[in-house]
Amino acid sequence: MSAILINGQSAEHISVLDRGFQYGDGVFETLRVSAGKPCHWAQHMARLSAGCQVLRISMPEPALLLSEAMSLCAGEVAAVLKIIITRGVGKRGYVPPAQAVPTRALSLSPAVVFPQMHYRDGVSVRVCDTRLAGNPTLAGIKHLNRLEQVLARAEWPEGEGSTQVAEGLMLDNNNNVIEGTMSNLFCVQEDEGGPVLKTPLLTHCGVKGITRENIINVAEAAGISVQETTLGLVDLYRSQELFLCNTLIGIWPVRQLEDQHFAVGPMTRRLSQALESLHD
Ligand SMILES: Cc1ncc(COP(=O)(O)O)c(C=O)c1O
Repeated sequence: MSAILINGQSAEHISVLDRGFQYGDGVFETLRVSAGKPCHWAQHMARLSAGCQVLRISMPEPALLLSEAMSLCAGEVAAVLKIIITRGVGKRGYVPPAQAVPTRALSLSPAVVFPQMHYRDGVSVRVCDTRLAGNPTLAGIKHLNRLEQVLARAEWPEGEGSTQVAEGLMLDNNNNVIEGTMSNLFCVQEDEGGPVLKTPLLTHCGVKGITRENIINVAEAAGISVQETTLGLVDLYRSQELFLCNTLIGIWPVRQLEDQHFAVGPMTRRLSQALESLHD
């Protein structure tokens, strides 16, 4: 199963003059599809809309996107839906066309199945050499420029098995840990008042994940203290628990960061369960 709708039509190609191709002038979303429906639709639309606003691209009507998404997802037990919105076709040169007509591309791919041991025992994580540049304007949104992630992900080979590195952490140029190449990061630290859930501040770089937002919400609803804060590698090494999250993986406990080992702890287990029982 694999299907693509470009501007509502079944197609596989876009114009070479499309500014998404020319400049990465656009935004995207990756959604999990379950029981014929895209999950957490409203949150994905909110981030897409925030990204379009920052780039001053006129966002297609969410109702139109939803009807196209539903037609692709119909009958799919589990799949992945990617939505790309670009500014559309333009002439040569950076100047955005005054009358740009955005391009929308929705594509469906098979569900990704990750090894069960990633969830049970946790994953091994490395620290990437590639850094994330700071840009407060673009921080948080899911724009199409992902060269830093591409370079970071190229730092280690693909592979399977328990000893393989499953994800890499990325730091900014001030040595703050920001996120994984394709995921957000949380750590659990004991304070005088009890355990605190911490996640990096994403004011200068990083993608504000939908799963990150859901985890913060379920944690706060459960009375867990949550802090979005500046975190260095030393802070991670002295944490009791570490975990990664995104739309497709859910939560992966981290059992090893470089040479240091971590237990898969109670907070990670509790939040994984709470996240799984979030229906949307
Ligand atoms: C760089 C980056 N950060 C964070 C995330 C997590 O975002 P979400 O929870 O919306 O999947 C992703 C997801 O692909 C990502 O690519």
